[in-house]
Amino acid sequence: MSTTIFYYTGTGNALWAARTISDALGGAEVASISETRATQTSRTPSTIGLVFPVHIWGVPRAMVRFVSTLTAHPQSTFFAIAVNAGQVANTLVQLEHLLKKRDLVLSLGFELRMPSNYIPWGGPGPRERQEELFRQAENKISRIASHVMQKNHLPVERGPLWQRMVFSALYRLTYSRVSSMDSSFWVDERCNQCGICGRICPAGNISLIQGNPVWQHGCEQCFACLQWCPQEAIQYGKKTPGYERYHHPAVTLKDLLGGKASTTEHT
Ligand SMILES: Cc1cc2nc3c(=O)[nH]c(=O)nc-3n(C[C@H](O)[C@H](O)[C@H](O)COP(=O)(O)O)c2cc1C
Repeated sequence: MSTTIFYYTGTGNALWAARTISDALGGAEVASISETRATQTSRTPSTIGLVFPVHIWGVPRAMVRFVSTLTAHPQSTFFAIAVNAGQVANTLVQLEHLLKKRDLVLSLGFELRMPSNYIPWGGPGPRERQEELFRQAENKISRIASHVMQKNHLPVERGPLWQRMVFSALYRLTYSRVSSMDSSFWVDERCNQCGICGRICPAGNISLIQGNPVWQHGCEQCFACLQWCPQEAIQYGKKTPGYERYHHPAVTLKDLLGGKASTTEHT
């Protein structure tokens, strides 16, 4: 049976996790959901992994859309890894329900603690702490791979009850507002109009107007634009000029840009 791992990422944590479990499974295919139409997914029984970050205490909208149109053989086996910064809340239960609506079963769902990329609340934390999180994540991925290989079926991991109740409500409240949250982005004088922000945005939400990035209110709040800006010129709200940028150290800009075409230039 073939294994394919579909990932969604802003700053590379999920891509690193997808690659690491692929290696542990002996070389599974790794594919970005941004470059795959869900309707093109396997129609023969296969093992399918979904690896993505927790966004606002739930499944990011891009992954919700991907799963909502997923076609897979009913005997396919699903596993998921939700990378997060310590508050997985109800994310994997939500994913289980989304798959159930497609008559598909999530056999394994794990949370994986990684450094935070939610920069409005601060940077990723000290380097030593990040290294510790990477080591712990690597160990946990080995255990997850054993479960996948043994075709185990376990209850999905979830946060404490209070977290699931309070934060699931907040997730539902903000879900439809995420697109327009990009009105808090701005660029400072360091912007050299390189256009990388537009190319890296998985939602194609940034146009260059006379060379300057302009967010088009179709944002997914992944923060890739801000975190990958080589000049650190992109800001969000008032505090980000003082916060350290983050991306996973083993993931490069080239990994994420892949074959993406350049951004639309408007004059
Ligand atoms: C908009 C946004 C919302 C987030 N919400 C949560 C959250 O609710 N709980 C949590 O633990 N981490 C949250 N995070 C942190 C990310 O899940 C975490 O840093 C993840 O490892 C980033 O993965 P990536 O590098 O693949 O994008 C959030 C990050 C962003 C950008």
